[in-house]
Amino acid sequence: MRLYPPAYFIDRVNLEEDEYDGVEIPKGSSLLFSMYEIHRDKKVWEDPMAFKPERFEDPKKYSSSYYPFGAGPRMCIGNNFAMYEMILAVAELISRYRISLKKDEIEITPLITLKPKNSYLNFSYR
Ligand code: HEM
Repeated sequence: MRLYPPAYFIDRVNLEEDEYDGVEIPKGSSLLFSMYEIHRDKKVWEDPMAFKPERFEDPKKYSSSYYPFGAGPRMCIGNNFAMYEMILAVAELISRYRISLKKDEIEITPLITLKPKNSYLNFSYR
């Protein structure tokens, strides 16, 4: 959800002329915000490419830099449902199978959502 967020960017159109960090933004601009980039920002994440779930032991530490479900009034309403479903699905799968990658690196296909490319897995019964 951090390194490969399925919703890897969100977009907004500003209703009024605005300014951010010295940049003038005309009314009606299309603005894209990349969770993919924010979730990998070296200024925020120590060793950003490493998978370290223990980073989240303090839930507040990264709360302003981690947006897999967006933020604010339009934040995903399926947030808790999706997390619960993922935990159930992964727990069920790993209780039955040993799963390993055929390739070390995961390539991506950024479409409307972020998808893996050529990501083949080995499943063997436990
Ligand atoms: C891993 C799974 C999911 C991810 C990563 C995800 C991600 C997101 C994100 C980033 C947004 C905000 C879009 C924006 O701000 O423009 C969003 C909105 C939304 N999501 Fe999800 N979502 C997931 C699963 C679900 C599920 C399971 C449901 C329904 C059961 C759902 C329903 C919605 C709805 C209705 C909105 C629009 C909310 C609004 O505009 O007020 N999502 N989702």
